[in-house]
Amino acid sequence: MSIDAPGNYRPETLAVAYGYDPASALGSVKPPVYLTSTFIYPSAQHAKDVHEAFFDGTGPLAGEAGHIYARLGHPGLDILESRLAAIDGAEASAAFASGMAAHSSIALSFVRPGDSVLYGRPIYGGVDMLYGTVLKDFGCHHENYLDGCDPIAVRAAADAAMAKGPLTLIMAETPANPTAALVDLDLMVAVADEVGARQGRRPLVVVDNTLLGPFAQRPMEHGVDLCMTSLTKYCAGHSDLLAGGVSGRLELVQKLRALRTTWGNHLDPFTAWLVVRSLESASVRIDRAMSNARTVAEFLHDHPKVAGVTYLGFLPEGSRARAVYDRQCKAAGSTFSFHLHGGEAEAFRMLDGLKLLKLAVSLGGSETLICHSASTTHYAVVPDARAAGGITDATLRLSVGLEHVDDLIADLAQALEAV
Ligand SMILES: Cc1ncc(COP(=O)(O)O)c(C=O)c1O
Repeated sequence: MSIDAPGNYRPETLAVAYGYDPASALGSVKPPVYLTSTFIYPSAQHAKDVHEAFFDGTGPLAGEAGHIYARLGHPGLDILESRLAAIDGAEASAAFASGMAAHSSIALSFVRPGDSVLYGRPIYGGVDMLYGTVLKDFGCHHENYLDGCDPIAVRAAADAAMAKGPLTLIMAETPANPTAALVDLDLMVAVADEVGARQGRRPLVVVDNTLLGPFAQRPMEHGVDLCMTSLTKYCAGHSDLLAGGVSGRLELVQKLRALRTTWGNHLDPFTAWLVVRSLESASVRIDRAMSNARTVAEFLHDHPKVAGVTYLGFLPEGSRARAVYDRQCKAAGSTFSFHLHGGEAEAFRMLDGLKLLKLAVSLGGSETLICHSASTTHYAVVPDARAAGGITDATLRLSVGLEHVDDLIADLAQALEAV
């Protein structure tokens, strides 16, 4: 017994019930872990047919789930990918060994030497390094927008990107890491359409949905082409694995999957199983983390040693970002930054005084994590770009977890005393 027609169910239900049929595994309520690197063909003809179906999409087995070798696909990947696609509201998904494996697969599949890419700042440091440094060495160009909600600034940046080479990809990380700055997805889709009409080839709009995750923000509903999520974070939610997913139209996802067999960066069977398991409780965990985050943000907002809190729940009425938030986000998330009065010394003193909150990079786990963005996650980003993205020497990023919120606030209060 399994459900079909995912459109009839909400994402929280799909996360528990879609994409696995117990009849396929001796009635096990939960899917087994298929720990195998290779699969037996029942006959030589079947071997030929399954290869034809995989590589050409034709022949008697076209469209059927058949397995060859785990790097090309395995049952755990099928379950995770169909579940993730259903949750994201997309035709298909591909799962990768990490969020960055997903990002670099998108880049290597769709960007060619001479092309240019448009992305916002701030953005996760690894993505900035991919497009700003690594792909530059392959002859690709990039341009940045600093306010992803400002139509004039975004269109000017798109023009500047087109002047360097055909604009083939627009990246929107929203909310952005670490400051939770928003990017207007409807604006990005409109700009992609305009650029497509002008240059004869429409750029893909790719969204990194890691910070809010698939329950609080639904990029596919805004008409974007690909929705990428670091599953390492909220979806897996326990800081114990790395994984990445990309959802979108079948034709695009198939290209990613085909090239994944060459890059060899698919998600392994055990980790895929762990992500499927964790997705079931993700919406509940995220809700709790978000309610804790609001209380923590309010505490920090009122604290005399704190100069500012960039929390989505505080966006002023009437601002452009607030209008985007109201249109695009279902909730404010639980990762945000705050800025202390002072600089690095004050920030380090606070971090070293914490007892319960853990000083570590990453986000979206059950435990509350805190880090100094400029010297950790955004270390490799050039200082000017960091400053332009609103990251100062006194910026601390918080990923609020599932502890009792009073304990979190008590720890923050005593550490702020030391500043
Ligand atoms: C917004 C965002 N996207 C992508 C990544 C990369 O994901 P992963 O660490 O799973 O490779 C991160 C990692 O912190 C992130 O914060």
